[in-house]
Amino acid sequence: MNPPSGIRIEGVTHYFAKPGSKEYTPVLSDVSLEARAGQFLALVGPSGCGKTTLLNMIAGLVQPTHGKVYRGEELATRPDRDVAYMLARAALFPWRTAQKNVELGLELRGAPRQERADTAARLLELTGLKDFAKSYPSHLSQGMRQRVALARTFALKPKFVLMDEPFSALDAQTKLAHQEEFVRIWEQTRTTAVLVTHDLAEAILMADRVVVFSPRPGRIKADLEIQLPRPRDLETLRFDERYRDIHERMWMELKQDVDHA
Ligand SMILES: Nc1ncnc2c1ncn2[C@@H]1O[C@H](COP(=O)(O)OP(=O)(O)OP(=O)(O)O)[C@@H](O)[C@H]1O
Ligand SMILES: [Mg+2]
Repeated sequence: MNPPSGIRIEGVTHYFAKPGSKEYTPVLSDVSLEARAGQFLALVGPSGCGKTTLLNMIAGLVQPTHGKVYRGEELATRPDRDVAYMLARAALFPWRTAQKNVELGLELRGAPRQERADTAARLLELTGLKDFAKSYPSHLSQGMRQRVALARTFALKPKFVLMDEPFSALDAQTKLAHQEEFVRIWEQTRTTAVLVTHDLAEAILMADRVVVFSPRPGRIKADLEIQLPRPRDLETLRFDERYRDIHERMWMELKQDVDHA
């Protein structure tokens, strides 16, 4: 397997052109950030502060107006197969079974049949979908479909996993199961992970470190290490003083902006 790589964001400032005018919207302001290889980073901040834009830069889909974004030693100037991107709504192919959906990326890479089947079987087992390998997406719940997408993501052994509010479409209980499941798989792979979320509890439960952004143009307001031991579970964490301190601190950082808006 590929060794993990880190992410380095150097002095990124970004503007988007306003449609139909010569004006520009400042979206990010002098953002510098370094995630070490294998680190799990969460980004939180008010709507419109540029979180998705920053994620798109790491994915190589958007180029910053100023500054640089590196994946490992390489400038992130284009998408790459080392990068997996997970969104809230899992896009599965309806005519392929769960197993065939998990195998898809490997198939595109030309992996041999047996290797594809073995990898898919292992990941379907890890995500609790072993008995649904032959089911089509229309016969799976939204939560199960999201788990198939999760299995498909890790089947490709990416160096980087980028997630934009991946659990926001799920009900509270399913969400919790998914968050814990994702962390379980991530712990086995130690892929460098970046999670964008509005859910503070989710950020603390999952990440090694949480970066809080100001309103647009987004700049870094706080950068907090989450030194809670793993495995973590929310039931226990809620009564942990350290959890409550971090939650409070994040909440205050975000609340200040609402108060001043
Ligand atoms: N392709 C684009 N062209 C022009 N403006 C854009 C484009 N993409 C995003 N924007 C603008 O950039 C700003 C930041 O958008 P972005 O999607 O990065 O915010 P966000 O922090 O992810 O917000 P949310 O939490 O609501 O998802 C917004 O004002 C948005 O309208
Ligand atoms: Mg967004």
